[in-house]
Amino acid sequence: MSTAAAGSTAAPAHRFTFGLWTVGNPGRDPFGEPTRARIDPVDSVHRLAELGAWGISLHDDDLVPWGTPAAERDRIVARFRAALDETGLRVGMATTNLFAHPAFKDGAFTSNDRAVRRAAIGKAMRSIDLGAELGAEVYDFWGGREGVEAGAAKDPRDALERYREAIDVLCDYAIGQGYALRFAIEPKPNEPRGDIFLPTVGHALHFITTLAHPEMVGVNPEVAHETMAGLSVHHAVGQALWAGKLFHIDLNAQRIGRYDQDFRFGAEDLKEAFLLVRLLERGGYDGPLHFDAHPYRNEDRDGVWDFAAGCMRTYRALAERARRFDALPEVQEALAAASVPELGHASCTGAGEADALKAEADELDRLAERGFRNEALDQLVVDVLLGLR
Ligand code: GCO
Ligand code: MN
Ligand code: MN
Repeated sequence: MSTAAAGSTAAPAHRFTFGLWTVGNPGRDPFGEPTRARIDPVDSVHRLAELGAWGISLHDDDLVPWGTPAAERDRIVARFRAALDETGLRVGMATTNLFAHPAFKDGAFTSNDRAVRRAAIGKAMRSIDLGAELGAEVYDFWGGREGVEAGAAKDPRDALERYREAIDVLCDYAIGQGYALRFAIEPKPNEPRGDIFLPTVGHALHFITTLAHPEMVGVNPEVAHETMAGLSVHHAVGQALWAGKLFHIDLNAQRIGRYDQDFRFGAEDLKEAFLLVRLLERGGYDGPLHFDAHPYRNEDRDGVWDFAAGCMRTYRALAERARRFDALPEVQEALAAASVPELGHASCTGAGEADALKAEADELDRLAERGFRNEALDQLVVDVLLGLR
């Protein structure tokens, strides 16, 4: 095994997590039935611990299927808890399934039916109880059904007001229960709805400023979702970090302009993945590194674990490449030639500069003469990614 490969071995210190629904994805798609048997969540816990993961995440219904009687629920949770204790695996994030039940067909927190909205908030409260019981750090809100196909069917202002109301009520609930949970909103532009409310990280960041407890709520950007919207996930995560709102991250891979592919991390656009990992590693993010991806549908059970190991291996390898990139003298020179450090310096020195600034507008013709050497810098990224340096 090469040095780089040895360095890519996962360990709990790396804080990698997987959703029960990711490794447990049975390969169902809109055109076909499952291709794999359901994996017992307890088996997933053991297998992920062996592979070096730090934790798991779950929807309420991943662990306790909808409709399970209370006594059976307690038995399932106790058995799962025992597997966590035995392996040392933690619960990084918990969330509510507010999309599978047919009652959520018109939305959950934004259904036009008030009774559905109340039931959705109640289901989220029960699920928050479960997440807190299992020691989750972050509670995710992915509003997959919060949207429309028929645009005239919801006034978006009313829908956002109901969305805000639901998050406020749930913040109050978690605070009242004394739970040490932070909430993270996970944006997505479409699928399963034609248009989903809070479609991008930017929309979610603004929405958070309208909440009663904005300090308790951040974002959970997903690589696939920003890419579906044709946006740079590197920039989305950058803005979340800049706002102090990167509470969680969903790592996977996606080709632009397609359905939500949720591929193994690094399976598409390695350059964007490299920039993202470099940003996370330099940006002080210390939350779970969560893989929200699915094994290809044509995999069997062994392929599921190849998939999980591959996600972590690629992240480690990209983190190593990012360190290598920043340690190269030629990269430091290229960054200087592109004036990258200069962007970190304030443009103005304070008040009373208006006359100077207006005079400096005369400099534009001279300033237009320089180049920024971005070709050389970008080629260094490619060289490092290809192992040429
Ligand atoms: C998607 C979403 C989901 C959510 C998960 C949490 O692929 O559209 O990412 O996987 O993250 O359901 O609620
Ligand atoms: Mn997705
Ligand atoms: Mn996700």
